[in-house]
Amino acid sequence: MIRARIISTGSYLPEKIISNHDIEKIVDTSDEWIVERTGIRERRMAADDEAASDLAYHASVSALKKAHLKARDIDLIIVATVTGDMPFPSTACLLQARLGAKNAAAFDLNAACSGFVYGMHIAQGMIKSGMHNRILLVGTEVLSRFIDWDDRSTCILFGDGAGAVIMEPTKEKRGVYSTHIYSDGSLSDLISLPGGGSRNPCTRETMLKTLHSIKMKGNETFKVAVRTLEELATYTLAENGIDPSQLSLLMPHQANLRIIQATAKRLNLPMEKVFLNLEKYGNTSAASIPIVLDEAVASGKVKDGDYLLLEAFGGGLTWASALVRW
Ligand code: COA
Repeated sequence: MIRARIISTGSYLPEKIISNHDIEKIVDTSDEWIVERTGIRERRMAADDEAASDLAYHASVSALKKAHLKARDIDLIIVATVTGDMPFPSTACLLQARLGAKNAAAFDLNAACSGFVYGMHIAQGMIKSGMHNRILLVGTEVLSRFIDWDDRSTCILFGDGAGAVIMEPTKEKRGVYSTHIYSDGSLSDLISLPGGGSRNPCTRETMLKTLHSIKMKGNETFKVAVRTLEELATYTLAENGIDPSQLSLLMPHQANLRIIQATAKRLNLPMEKVFLNLEKYGNTSAASIPIVLDEAVASGKVKDGDYLLLEAFGGGLTWASALVRW
């Protein structure tokens, strides 16, 4: 049986750190409130000359180096992002050019915070079917450019970053065991970036209405996220006949500590088995899970044969999970 396997990981976080105390100087909030309600203490912000493809480039180079591969060894590049360099060409094509990945087709994928796990779904399908052999899958976001710094309910949440993995076929008893993707477009108004597309192209009026920044009904989103992710995690394990006690690590999308704790509680999973880095980076949307993967692998917490559960929830609405045996 052919499965898709992650052979290497990489990530890149911009240098500039924005702490909760920095945000206290911009809006009426406090470090205490933000930590208590979200678990976030600081986030990264891209430099003025850095766009999504730049962050993606550094994460990809790191993943390629670790796999001892050249960019021309890649035959498909998928970039999950909602903050690409521009509407077109795709950020994936810009990344392909910068890497010199001449043998790769390249496209972007928009599933908001679930984008990377959606990408795993597509990549594993491509690999299992034999259509592609070595895929570079990237999540990259520069959300700081799309934040309304007057809106205290959203500006505290998001950060910039990128993560990348390389996937290949394997006949071993490891790799991606299953992926599950879902959407509910009827709840699209819960999290959105309404301006800049063909519905609300950029005008003076859309600028004044701040339509070019993220809008979120935080509390409603929170409730749907908790319910959905609890069900998703339970279902994903059951589909694979895996008891939660067999799980080595839960790798959740890093949006809110309370959402993550609820999922862990539902699985009866001690928090030591949950990988967290949202304290340092906040919500980096599609980049969140590949950054988690890279940091978890680098920390030595991921061992051969470990079962890992990846799960994400985001705008669309979308939600997605993957069960991986390392
Ligand atoms: N600092 C201080 N007070 C704040 C605040 C901030 N940064 N942001 C909101 N508040 C206030 C609100 O104005 C409100 O005040 P009021 O009661 O006087 O009207 C109060 O806090 C409660 O607001 P509410 O939105 O109900 O808070 P909450 O407990 O739901 O926390 C979020 C807000 C955004 C942290 C939380 O809803 C959340 O994390 N939601 C999910 C977000 C998410 O994960 N989105 C991405 C999915 S990928």
